[in-house]
Amino acid sequence: MNLSDQEFKDIRLVVLRLSGIWLGEDKQYLIRSRLEPILRLNKLSSYAELVLRSAGIAGLALQEEIIEAITTKETSFNRDGHPFDEFRRTLLPELIRNKFDRQRSIGLPFGKLRIWSAASSTGNEAYSLAMTILEYIETQPQNGLNPIRLTADSFQILASDISEQALQKAREGSYYEWELDRGLSNEWKLKYFEKSDSHFTIQPTIRAMVEFKRINLIKPFADINGFDLVLCRNLLIYFDQNTRREIVDKLVNSLTQGGILMLGASESLTVLPKGLVQSQVGRTVVYRKTGT
Ligand SMILES: C[S@@+](CC[C@H](N)C(=O)[O-])C[C@H]1O[C@@H](n2cnc3c(N)ncnc32)[C@H](O)[C@@H]1O
Repeated sequence: MNLSDQEFKDIRLVVLRLSGIWLGEDKQYLIRSRLEPILRLNKLSSYAELVLRSAGIAGLALQEEIIEAITTKETSFNRDGHPFDEFRRTLLPELIRNKFDRQRSIGLPFGKLRIWSAASSTGNEAYSLAMTILEYIETQPQNGLNPIRLTADSFQILASDISEQALQKAREGSYYEWELDRGLSNEWKLKYFEKSDSHFTIQPTIRAMVEFKRINLIKPFADINGFDLVLCRNLLIYFDQNTRREIVDKLVNSLTQGGILMLGASESLTVLPKGLVQSQVGRTVVYRKTGT
């Protein structure tokens, strides 16, 4: 179907308003390949009609279809490897220690260490964190790092995304074997998944550590806070500078003092918001909230 210059401009604005995703001048092909099925399915005669029909409350269903079509949900277990290695080796012990000290100083028990996988797609990142935590807990008696007895219950992971389809799959926790093979060892595959027909389903202990919620990060989310660690990986690349800055500010607000923000490997911040300090942990860059 033909996509005029004006229609391209209008569609880009619709996408921007719905998701914050900024499509560059060269993305005509992407719009055509992703949105054309919506035109066919809804028997719309042009992109101009899609723009018109997707406006306002009456256009909610079409808005959902546009969000699902335009978002890139590429993810994998233990994506990039080293952030998860550093999480287990350095960040997790540090976060546990900080939380323990903080809680003890105000006379409270450890409670739960809270982690947010913002833009979690189909849950692979959140489940990778949960599996890494369980592995860490298992080796605790040997490394003797923690003065308290940690269990899976000591951790709470929030996984959120704008895509309801991605969240649906994340909630089911059911994957094809090829999805597991992208990032998981055979050992973890057998240990943390149950095979049924062509699928592998995450074990209930891991599943219970993760809570799923639909959150559009360009909308306000001030009530989502108190996190010790926030991961927002491989999303900011889709946004323009202003949107990136706004989202990072809001993510920093959702952290506790001393909390850690982790972005994708190619998403380092050029300007640091006040109270955020960059540090290198092995091959991984993280940002600590210092509060000063
Ligand atoms: C490329 S995936 C990255 C998934 C995971 N963080 C990782 O690194 O493997 C980007 C995810 O961001 C989600 N997304 C896009 N726009 C969003 C928005 N405005 N708010 C929340 N999530 C969004 C997409 O649905 C998609 O699942």
